[in-house]
Amino acid sequence: MENAAHQKDQLLAVERVEHSIESTDLNDLCDATDAAIKAGGGFGWVELPSRDVLERFWQGVAAMPLRILFLARLDGVVCGTCQLIRPTQNNEAQKHAAQLTGLFVTPWARGRGLSRMLLDHAEAEARKMGHSVINLDVRESMDTAIKLYESAGYVQIGSHPYYARINDTYVAGRYYTKAL
Ligand SMILES: CC(C)(COP(=O)(O)OP(=O)(O)OC[C@H]1O[C@@H](n2cnc3c(N)ncnc32)[C@H](O)[C@@H]1OP(=O)(O)O)[C@@H](O)C(=O)NCCC(=O)NCCS
Repeated sequence: MENAAHQKDQLLAVERVEHSIESTDLNDLCDATDAAIKAGGGFGWVELPSRDVLERFWQGVAAMPLRILFLARLDGVVCGTCQLIRPTQNNEAQKHAAQLTGLFVTPWARGRGLSRMLLDHAEAEARKMGHSVINLDVRESMDTAIKLYESAGYVQIGSHPYYARINDTYVAGRYYTKAL
């Protein structure tokens, strides 16, 4: 499933990964991840992992039935991503809610609307899968991401003073929700 848009003659596209990640795309996704981690991350990694760890990580994400992986492309090159995590089957009380995680766009592709496209696409897929709520959390220091989420209708429902620990320093975090 794909949606696409043009911006200044550049083709922007977002798609859901159906099974596994094809090798050129995997290489581009690892390059994008490397560059985003070096630029300050925000999606978990603090230290740059080795290439084989990154490759196995992404193939693992693509293979997990309860993780829905989305890729963003600029002129065909994978440059961003996000995931939806669906509740486990026993969790009937929370089957309405999916968790959005791992959203980033690599630095060279930023400022073109790709993260908003990723978010829109993930929300549309969540609705199609029967979810009525998306939850997410984010470091308080990620100003652009916070602006993006709040402008997309996510409402802050909490905060955590010890949310992350980066280089021996705690970083606070925020929790958001959106009723679809
Ligand atoms: C946050 C992030 C995903 C935004 O990606 P992007 O593709 O550049 O964002 P978009 O181009 O879709 O822009 C989204 C909104 O943010 C605004 N924005 C983008 N870059 C910005 C910047 N440097 N400063 C201020 N606002 C900015 C845009 O104006 C846009 O708002 P608009 O649609 O109202 O104009 C990207 O900066 C990133 O990967 N950051 C590091 C990782 C991260 O923070 N991930 C989220 C953790 S949960």
